[in-house]
Amino acid sequence: MAKLYTKDTQAIFWNNNTTAIQRMLDYDYTIQRKKPSVAAIVAPTSGNKFEKFFYGPDEIMIPLYKTTAAAKAAQPGADVLLNFASFRTAYDVTMEALEIGGFSSIMITAEGIPERLARAMNATAREKNVTVIGPATVGAIAPGAFKIANIGGTIENIVQSKLHRAGSCGLVTRSGGLFNELSNIIAINADGIAEGVAIGGDRFVGSVFIDNLLRMEENPEVKYMILLGEVGGTEEYKVIEAVKSGKIKKPIIAWCIGTIAKYYDSGVQFGHAGASANGDMETAEAKNNAMAAVGIHVPASFNDLPLMIKKVYTELNLPAIPEPDMSVCPSVRKSKEFICTISDDRGDECTYAGFPISSLATPETGKGIGDVVSLLWFKKQYPKWATDFIETVIKTVADHGPAVSGAHNAKVTARAGKSVVESLVTGLLTIGPRFGGAIDGAAEYFKYADDNKLTPAEFLNHMKKEGVPIPGIGHRIKSLKNPDLRVEGLKKYAAQYFPSTSLLDYALTVEQLTTSKKENLILNVDGTIGILMVDMWRALGYTEEEINEFISSGTLNAFFIVGRSIGFIGHVLDEKRLAMPMYRHPMSDILYDVQVADKI
Ligand code: ACO
Ligand code: LMR
Repeated sequence: MAKLYTKDTQAIFWNNNTTAIQRMLDYDYTIQRKKPSVAAIVAPTSGNKFEKFFYGPDEIMIPLYKTTAAAKAAQPGADVLLNFASFRTAYDVTMEALEIGGFSSIMITAEGIPERLARAMNATAREKNVTVIGPATVGAIAPGAFKIANIGGTIENIVQSKLHRAGSCGLVTRSGGLFNELSNIIAINADGIAEGVAIGGDRFVGSVFIDNLLRMEENPEVKYMILLGEVGGTEEYKVIEAVKSGKIKKPIIAWCIGTIAKYYDSGVQFGHAGASANGDMETAEAKNNAMAAVGIHVPASFNDLPLMIKKVYTELNLPAIPEPDMSVCPSVRKSKEFICTISDDRGDECTYAGFPISSLATPETGKGIGDVVSLLWFKKQYPKWATDFIETVIKTVADHGPAVSGAHNAKVTARAGKSVVESLVTGLLTIGPRFGGAIDGAAEYFKYADDNKLTPAEFLNHMKKEGVPIPGIGHRIKSLKNPDLRVEGLKKYAAQYFPSTSLLDYALTVEQLTTSKKENLILNVDGTIGILMVDMWRALGYTEEEINEFISSGTLNAFFIVGRSIGFIGHVLDEKRLAMPMYRHPMSDILYDVQVADKI
């Protein structure tokens, strides 16, 4: 690939290093990227679903995942992995990412990865044609497009070093510190860099000088290249061969630091693990001379590098690069305590998941309460068969007479003179594992049984062992002989409109067994709703994890809450309309079994 990164490049950041990620997002905002350069964060030990960051004056949420695989599956377009794992796990993280695939490049920041592992990792990456930058690096940058973490330093330094937009130089160094130093020198003496890579200080890095220079040779934005090598290793000789063979034609300016080493009698070890000469060829002086011998521009000393850069750049007579528009991140930013992802009331009209109220409130829009629920609960416009099913459920459970426990409590509270909302709440507080609140439980347990291929008998035994009555099974008054026509109606709808009803089909086999024991152990309306919702979500393409999350968050019981609120309010209004007196239960209907207190 001619370009390492573009303005559309997105990365998966392994390890929630919020400081480094915020710097990337500040850069994105400064150069006016349309989308954040970090699409997802892998945080194996975090229970959070997202991390908030500033994006200019606003805030954005970046999703967190426990694994690289989950992050990649959710963000398939993110083809860069920024591996900020420690040296203990960086190898495994890289190898896993190479196995998962879909990454064009991987940057590894860890220092101290054992050389044996580094060599194996680099070899695997080469086989898979994945560019590895590092280990032990600050990364790389494509000015005006994509910047890894902390490379280039603060935004102020970025702008000063003309790293906010593409220049015409391709820069490759080992060291991150000298990378920033050289970026500044190039900005002063030329027009900045088009792409820059700090390949890392370890002896065995994933991509060496020649790999990056050959890519820059193909990058039309790069007009000349600068290589800052150092004492130790022989990678510079590959560059010399490429120049001699004509593989690299663009001008190269190069310098190997560490010429001072010759004044030491032993093979002195400079900063980086790879920075020690094992023989004359690896000395900085030998390499500088060899590069100069093939026409590479080698200054007399590091201090002469700025003049050399100015000379080569001037001779290229390149057109001036226009300064792009930039945005400025506010110096003071306050994080918001609340987040709303379902509606927005800031404009002229409130929107439900982006849809203005007027686009679905009135009959001519063709939208119903099922559409409103799909938008405000699930942030998606569901197809008509699904929104009609939601509406059918809400209408079906709206009421079941004054005798049911919730309605009774609402009526009694109303007759005690309490308000509509207070009476409604007592009805709603009745909803639970036995009454109206078994929908989530039914979905959870029947899905568990079906997913684990339990026969109905195995399922019943499992529940018996758990000591849990099967949620969704049983009714006080409905039975085989007195079927619940609400259940029949829901099953008929599903048979007609659902793409499939595999979980319902399983549940009906369970019902056959339970009703063979007791005829009132039918699949009740809670069970039918919960099970069909799973069938619906599967047909809508949700993953099993997403469906399990809906269930565990109580989404399904909410359908009963919404629907039955209509009935409870009806009963409360009924009591008020009839001006019924306070209710006192007849003592004749109470079995008193009070032990006589011992005389004191
Ligand atoms: N799973 C297993 N066994 C059950 C279940 C069940 N869901 N429900 C009742 N049984 C068994 C009981 O263990 C008992 O067995 P036993 O006689 O051997 O002790 C027998 O059936 C009778 O139990 P009761 O609780 O007296 O039966 P009842 O008809 O009163 O129960 C109820 C009705 C409360 C709905 C019960 O079936 C239940 O708790 N079901 C699970 C919760 C549920 O689905 N509720 C939603 C109901 S629909 C709605 O509220 C809108
Ligand atoms: C209801 O919908 O309230 C019922 O299924 C429960 C009941 O006892 O009728």
